[in-house]
Amino acid sequence: MLHRTTFGDPKNVGNVLSREEANLLLTDWVKNERLQLHMKQVAWLMKCWAAEKEEMQEADQWRWEMAGLLHDADWDQYPEQHCIKIIEELEARNIDPEIIRAIASHGPNHFGVEPITKMDKMLFAFDELSGLTHAYSLMRPEGYAGMELKGIKKRFKEKAFAASVNREEIQDAMSRAGVELESIMLFIIERQGVVK
Ligand SMILES: [Fe+2]
Repeated sequence: MLHRTTFGDPKNVGNVLSREEANLLLTDWVKNERLQLHMKQVAWLMKCWAAEKEEMQEADQWRWEMAGLLHDADWDQYPEQHCIKIIEELEARNIDPEIIRAIASHGPNHFGVEPITKMDKMLFAFDELSGLTHAYSLMRPEGYAGMELKGIKKRFKEKAFAASVNREEIQDAMSRAGVELESIMLFIIERQGVVK
């Protein structure tokens, strides 16, 4: 639990890391390649959503992408301080409070911070569901290629498959975001294969 409700400083709105700085932070802090891949996949989905569904310009697309890219940055080396360490780091670097807030609220049932903005809600929605689609891609010889909605829906119902992926949390994330589970599944499987 973070026991906080405000994040960052409003005067820092619009402040971002450059792509190089963000990538450096990612590779510095996250040595686990699987986790790095997960973070890149969520980042890509956030960018696609911002561009396609929110029709945002490049600067805003990057803010969404950056939130995805760094949301689990402290999980590898600072598991005891998960979600605390990265928030403090981004606050110290005077980063846009909306990005920090999105990261802080990506696990409302764990960190106690409610997702409020669309960025918050989509980060929460993509986080666990993309974990499920990725687990499914690993058991398919062709990976993401040709993945169909009915296949991922079946895996979603099989509680033993990727058992660590909490189905109730996914449903919770979808209803908070006001999106249909199936439409987000489709959105993911049509784009996720791009990030290897
Ligand atoms: Fe995550």
